[in-house]
Amino acid sequence: MSLAQIGAELDILLEWKKGTAEAMLELPPNPELGDAAFPCFTLAKSLRKAPQQIASDLAERFKLEGTEASAAGPYLNFRFDRSVHSASLLLQAEGQAAAPNGQTVVIDMSSPNIAKPFGVGHLRSTVIGAALYRMYTEAGYRTISVNHLGDWGTQFGKQITAYKRWGSEERLKAAPIRESLSLYVRFHDEAVNDPTLETEARDWFRRLESGDEEALGLWRYFVDVSLSEFDRMYGRLGVSFDKVLGESFYNDKMGAVVEELRTKGLLEESEGAQVVRLDDEEMPPCLILKSDGTTIYPTRDLATAIYRHDVLQADKLLYVVGAEQTLHFRQVFAVLRKMGRKWASACQHIPFGLMKFEGKKMSTRKGKVVFLEEVLDEAVARATAIIEEKNPQLQNREAIAEAIGIGAIVFGDLKNNRIGEINFSIEEAVQFEGETGPYVQYTHARARSVLRKAKEGSAEAQNGAAEYESIKASASAYHWDEASWELLKRLCDYQTELQRGVQRQEPSVVARYALDLAKMFNRFYHHNKVLSAAAGDKEVRLELTRLTAERLRWALDLLGVRSPKEI
Ligand code: ARG
Repeated sequence: MSLAQIGAELDILLEWKKGTAEAMLELPPNPELGDAAFPCFTLAKSLRKAPQQIASDLAERFKLEGTEASAAGPYLNFRFDRSVHSASLLLQAEGQAAAPNGQTVVIDMSSPNIAKPFGVGHLRSTVIGAALYRMYTEAGYRTISVNHLGDWGTQFGKQITAYKRWGSEERLKAAPIRESLSLYVRFHDEAVNDPTLETEARDWFRRLESGDEEALGLWRYFVDVSLSEFDRMYGRLGVSFDKVLGESFYNDKMGAVVEELRTKGLLEESEGAQVVRLDDEEMPPCLILKSDGTTIYPTRDLATAIYRHDVLQADKLLYVVGAEQTLHFRQVFAVLRKMGRKWASACQHIPFGLMKFEGKKMSTRKGKVVFLEEVLDEAVARATAIIEEKNPQLQNREAIAEAIGIGAIVFGDLKNNRIGEINFSIEEAVQFEGETGPYVQYTHARARSVLRKAKEGSAEAQNGAAEYESIKASASAYHWDEASWELLKRLCDYQTELQRGVQRQEPSVVARYALDLAKMFNRFYHHNKVLSAAAGDKEVRLELTRLTAERLRWALDLLGVRSPKEI
């Protein structure tokens, strides 16, 4: 079916190139208007007729079995004969994987800083980046995720200085981030009265950049203990990376970049530092080397982009990083353009907004930190309490509460347009009602449970082809009530929704689709008996239930939310 057939028929009537009309077909805003609509406004000019006239002419000439066309003002509306179309819609809803499109996307995601807490921004980057990663992959791209760890820079000079003065190996091992953070805070507190601290820190970083053994050893140790703590979080979120290449990886690749900038005449001195001027792009200069000759964040990002393009063969370079770094990325991409890298236009910053918890912003600077793991733990504790109350008999309660608590946070983030600010309420996110992850998870489990019960009651199992023939027959005899029909049509939208999500780089498109499907399934289930229905009806309804369960799992998988079979 169906839209394709309507489109093809319209192309013939209008003498258009194949595929033109299909792209213009819309879903009517309200199902009473029909199953598809063709707006005639844009045709008025070339046909020299009023859109209303065009619509009514087309309505008269349009002939397609099982499809009724009628004009409503400037629109041509189509209504499907449900018994004719339902079988092919059921097949369409089944879905198929996209073919590889030969494009490589590199996604920069998560990228926390070593020896500092994993912030909310890093959580959002991880969750949004991982969802985009799966969506791009599902849409046929070759996708490479990179965790661009903040494992280099002057802060390591400070970290080493503080550790040498006040640190303890025991404390660092027991709670790496907490200890690193308290060293960091103490460094800043004491540096106010003791200027030698800053000098010492700069010195340690210089030693680090020039490969000093002692500095490197301490640095590696900080990286390892921090990473092991981050890995615990990634494990809980179900996220992994194709590559973990921190900023330090580019240490030996920045010299060439600086050299190239110099030979191309792009470097200028400014207050002792080396910068690239971006006046013509109306941006402040991009800092390349500090006055003491050490490199800085943008320098590393230049080397990183070149590596991703040249070595990883990226056709698209995405950076999932908070909106507060917009200027930084605009500057880096502008410098790449000045260097003559045409592919700079394939670099894209994917920004996202702040997330506050019950109105509070988290700040790591002052040591006033809500550690992210505590947020996850709270969500899981709330999920546990709800399960104990709802279903105390449930097997595997602990694992399921973990899946729901974490799912609530991930979904609660992803259902929002990424760019907006989020005021997050853990309490709300963990509810089984409303627009939440647990609501979708619960609906999925409900559908699975219907399917399990149906299986217990039936002995015969059919093979694929015979099964489809039988469903086809039942579907054309089925009385397609609104709730069943709307669910079936929505099930068929999954590819359009995925494409739209990829195009806008918005996981919320997939999350909203999952919510919609869940709502429609619950409405369908409320209006229709499934297990106790007559044989033919039962077959169709079970098929709708199965397709819903699979599609909900598909959507939750894309978002990185687990879908337990039982809740
Ligand atoms: N580590 C940085 C931060 O926490 C984010 C890095 C983002 N990626 C990049 N290629 N600059 O602010």
